[in-house]
Amino acid sequence: MEPRTSAAVCGMGHSMKRKEDPRFIRGQGHYVDDIKLPGMLHMDIVRSPYAHAKIVSINTEKALAIPGVLAVITGETLKAYNLHWMPTLMSDTQMVLPVEKVMYQAQEVAAVIATDRYIAADGVDAVEVDYEPLPVVVDPRKALEPGAPVLRDDKEGRTDNHIWHWETGDRAATERAFAEADVTVKQDIYIPRIHVASIETCGCVADFNKTDTHLTVYMTTQAPHAIRTVIALVAGHVGLSEEKIRVISPDLGGGFGGKVPVYPGYVIAVAASVVIGKPIKWVEDRMENLQADSFARDYHMTAELAARKDGTMTALRITTLADHGYADAAANPSKFPAGLFSICTGSYDIKTAFTEMDAAYTNKPPGGVAYRCSFRVTEAVHAIERVTDVLAQELKMDPAELRFKNFIPADKFPYKSALGWEYDSGNYKAALEKAMKGIGYDELRKEQAEKRAKGELMGIGICSFTEIVGAGPSKDFDILGIKMFDSAEIRIHPTGKAIARFGTKSQGQGHETTYAQIVAEELGIPAAHIQVEEGDTDTAPYGLGTYASRSTPTAGAAAAVAARKIRDKAKKIAAYLLEVSEDDLEWEPGKFSVKGAPQKSKTIQELAFAAYTNHPPGMEAGLEAVDYYDPPNLTFPFGSYICVVDIDRGTGEVKVRRFLAVDDCGNIINPMIVDGQIHGGLSMGLAPALYEEISYDENGNISGGSFMDYLVPTAMETPNWETDKTVTPCPHHPLGAKGVGESATVGAPPAIVNAVVDALSHLGVKHIEIPMTPEKVWNILKEKGVAE
Ligand code: CDP
Repeated sequence: MEPRTSAAVCGMGHSMKRKEDPRFIRGQGHYVDDIKLPGMLHMDIVRSPYAHAKIVSINTEKALAIPGVLAVITGETLKAYNLHWMPTLMSDTQMVLPVEKVMYQAQEVAAVIATDRYIAADGVDAVEVDYEPLPVVVDPRKALEPGAPVLRDDKEGRTDNHIWHWETGDRAATERAFAEADVTVKQDIYIPRIHVASIETCGCVADFNKTDTHLTVYMTTQAPHAIRTVIALVAGHVGLSEEKIRVISPDLGGGFGGKVPVYPGYVIAVAASVVIGKPIKWVEDRMENLQADSFARDYHMTAELAARKDGTMTALRITTLADHGYADAAANPSKFPAGLFSICTGSYDIKTAFTEMDAAYTNKPPGGVAYRCSFRVTEAVHAIERVTDVLAQELKMDPAELRFKNFIPADKFPYKSALGWEYDSGNYKAALEKAMKGIGYDELRKEQAEKRAKGELMGIGICSFTEIVGAGPSKDFDILGIKMFDSAEIRIHPTGKAIARFGTKSQGQGHETTYAQIVAEELGIPAAHIQVEEGDTDTAPYGLGTYASRSTPTAGAAAAVAARKIRDKAKKIAAYLLEVSEDDLEWEPGKFSVKGAPQKSKTIQELAFAAYTNHPPGMEAGLEAVDYYDPPNLTFPFGSYICVVDIDRGTGEVKVRRFLAVDDCGNIINPMIVDGQIHGGLSMGLAPALYEEISYDENGNISGGSFMDYLVPTAMETPNWETDKTVTPCPHHPLGAKGVGESATVGAPPAIVNAVVDALSHLGVKHIEIPMTPEKVWNILKEKGVAE
């Protein structure tokens, strides 16, 4: 049976799948764990039980005595090659394997290489490590207190756990606006640490060929080209040169940002393969994936709004403390240590704003990744959409009315936000009106009043979010200095069939379908005749990969531009064959014909054949084009979500009765795929709102480290999502499209929290932290005297 991807589970759309493709994988199947290469060895990892401890000794004798165990790799082994530390994507450093101390529970301590996966696991059990526990810091606020143990004493001259400070906006003007405001509100909000938990965990097969010194890495990565460059930069000194490195990212069972970073397991497998000269497979198990891979969120925020009595928002101020674990391994563009958090003025015309952020080291796994979120947008939207409801409550205004009062008007686009972004297009009023009509907002408010009179708890929550996706204009966006454009290369074969290759990498988003559609639409070639490929650095043009809903804004645009270059050349060939000037030709999908003489025409297939058999003298043969698309701006998709909840007074359980999502991602390429994206995203937004959280006790012991405790919602908990749309095209994208993959994950949590708080607002409840577990809600009901 073919493995199910999280794409299937989360409704991320259907993709046209290749059958067996021997070019991609020399074994069977399509996923890393399916790969079987001759002579392949297996790797398993010894992990630390302590969150902070000195390594006194590592005894590998018993492990090496097990038949089939070939090697145990430690930090000392890697140190000999200067590979025991590696850079993170945020130019911090992270251990591959420790030499002196471990920094979090489940950190990699050593790796066992064996002939069989189970023997490698036996080897892991037999490695004896002697630790000396050190004081543990789990709370980022305590990490910044004077006298806190300095965690990164590996960095020379470091005297505290502060990583960076970042601020944007006008501090003084914001202070003035707050001083002059009729009303101000302030809300502390914590977005807990959560985990990507894609169905397929991370893993790789590293295959170094000692004869020709080529390295092939089959790897669960969302960004194969960037990884190839990073390997060359980090391991060039041991002979891994970029032209001899091939990274292949086969089918992925979900990625969601968690498969952007480089994890130690990948590096150890590569190092082991180079030394041993055999292919090495490493695939994490579920608990390793939950406990040690990069986390997401973990933001402590204080959001404040200033407003006039009539509800006009005049200023926004947000302060944030980010817990990055023991290394800043966020996958943010390098200019933006707090990602795109400064989208936090949201959909509102707030003239004055200021936000400042600090980041701290703690004894936790490094992070944080942009989990289905364009670099901290989830946190920003949560802050603004929550504090907007707090303001509505303070002013005793309906939250919809407050939003209408403050929306950026449709005729003000392109709109420059107080924190510097130029929003491309939007019509927020239309989206909220549609959502309110679709869900029957006025009737629901009446029903709520009746229920309240009977003591029943029902709430209605709104979230009108603005996203910022499509990184990026390369002048602002880079990862480790590599500019964030993306690419498409299209080749039309003589018989009019095509192959199109991209620098992005689908993880279940259906790029095979939508990219083929774009090329088909531009050239009039049937989509079924277009082979789409991504994920192989030997064949695909260079690109930065897929995350942050960037594929449509960048590679999707590149597909259209490359196809148009091909059409331009085809036009020249048509003019030659039809013996007319190019100006006398007109295009309809699939053919050029002579204006006024439509019977004189040439189809794209005929023109493709001519490109190789009968092209104009002086013209290069062939019909192909490549485009590296550098978008002029980001795209700003948006939406209005309305959630209706009922709360059980006996158990505190929150039931999402209805949830309507009205999304706007500009022009849509494939409505079914977009709907799938929204459904999956909503389920991934429901998850942290009600269920998912990874927390730690004071000793750094993880809770939520297995699916027994980390509650990923199933079909049982997931409501019947209702979706609708408005269409406000992006003015600068060749197809008028904006990204959409993450909108719903970003928009859903605050809609759900706003609904639950709304259900309890008459009892004086102003805010509830996520996840809103039955226990948490029931305790509030008890405190308010309404628990049954
Ligand atoms: O980068 P990623 O693929 O995750 O996100 P995206 O660009 O938002 O695209 C997700 C999927 O939705 C892709 O298959 C897109 O082609 C499709 N899509 C679409 O059909 N129309 C849009 N306006 C945006 C995305």
